[in-house]
Amino acid sequence: MSETTADIPAATHDGPPTPARRGAAHDSAFLRACRHEPVPHTPVWFMRQAGRSLPEYHKVREGIPMLESCMRPELVKEITLQPVRRHQVDAAIFFSDIVVPLKAIGIDVEIQPKVGPVIADPIRTFEDLKRLRPLEPDDVPYVTEAIGLLVDELGGTPLIGFAGAPYTLASYLVEGGPSKNHENTKAMMYGQPELWAALVDRLADITSAFLKVQIEAGASAVQLFDSWVGSLAPDDYRRSVMPASAKVFDSVAHYGVPRIHFGVGTGELLGLMGQAGADIVGVDWRVPLNVAAERVGPGKGLQGNLDPAVLFAPTKVVETKAREVLHAAQALGTSGHIFNLGHGVLPNMDPDALSRLVAFVHEASAR
Ligand code: CP3
Repeated sequence: MSETTADIPAATHDGPPTPARRGAAHDSAFLRACRHEPVPHTPVWFMRQAGRSLPEYHKVREGIPMLESCMRPELVKEITLQPVRRHQVDAAIFFSDIVVPLKAIGIDVEIQPKVGPVIADPIRTFEDLKRLRPLEPDDVPYVTEAIGLLVDELGGTPLIGFAGAPYTLASYLVEGGPSKNHENTKAMMYGQPELWAALVDRLADITSAFLKVQIEAGASAVQLFDSWVGSLAPDDYRRSVMPASAKVFDSVAHYGVPRIHFGVGTGELLGLMGQAGADIVGVDWRVPLNVAAERVGPGKGLQGNLDPAVLFAPTKVVETKAREVLHAAQALGTSGHIFNLGHGVLPNMDPDALSRLVAFVHEASAR
């Protein structure tokens, strides 16, 4: 263990660890909204806020491959902090990637610029499954170290940890890279249900372990990204994916940190994604938040959901659309809404437009 993390109380699996430094964020607008407590303003952060659109990100990343950059704690700290400094968002998201735990257990994966994760040898058979061994905290010491550095520096701003959900990770592993139709993934899901179940179960364990490392190091909340699960019909989701995602949520329930569940094009799955165990359901821009609130049911918070492409329109339009999101969220009552985009920040987005949007959401929602 490095010097920076040595003073974080050791956590056990028996009870919720409460690293003293995570406590600093306890009363933040973000965590209050997650707990449905009154907030001074609607909290806002952006998926993929770290990196991509920021010139200062491209500068510090120059010449360093994506996955290597995730293994350098000082660099991870700097990149995670950049959007917090610039935009005054209410939460930081840890700079990493959904394939980092796969790389850490020895899967030959690379992130190709403008393409995404590419897997050298796709997983297609029971024999291939053996390569998906369990993830141990010692496989990702740089994650623990970077979060220790970050929690010190962030003070009252909460840090969101994250991982890829079993379906989305499986889609990369089975296809061998990004895919539009997920045909190999679905062929396995429909045609070899036992192999599929074993695959997503192993991924659930890896994802759970990755989230635990982040929570034990001091993350204040976690988000499970099931980005591509919107390609499934509800019955297939319920039968073939939900048990694995539920296993992930169950495995971190005892920590008591808010758990966010997000996917794209998941209008028909919102109720089930809440049932899988999330405290907060992320919604893309296709479903207004008042409709999403009905689908998800009482007791759960919502995160979202301005269409990212709106940020390319004039400021007045951005503000009108953002106001519509805030208005639709009133269906939730006075709290329980976290403002976000309906998917990630796009690479060519104007960072100033994002900063203006944060200021606008704070002002328009001030209570
Ligand atoms: O602010 C943040 O969210 C930063 C941390 C973060 C990254 N990836 C860094 C990254 C997070 C939360 C992710 C999640 C992620 N990674 C998802 C789920 C979110 C989503 O958008 O739906 C997915 C599907 C991946 C897999 C992945 N990694 C893709 C599709 C890509 C994009 C490829 C490209 O260049 O367009 C990546 C690469 C990646 N991950 C980048 C960043 C900043 C860009 C790489 C670079 O800047 O060189």
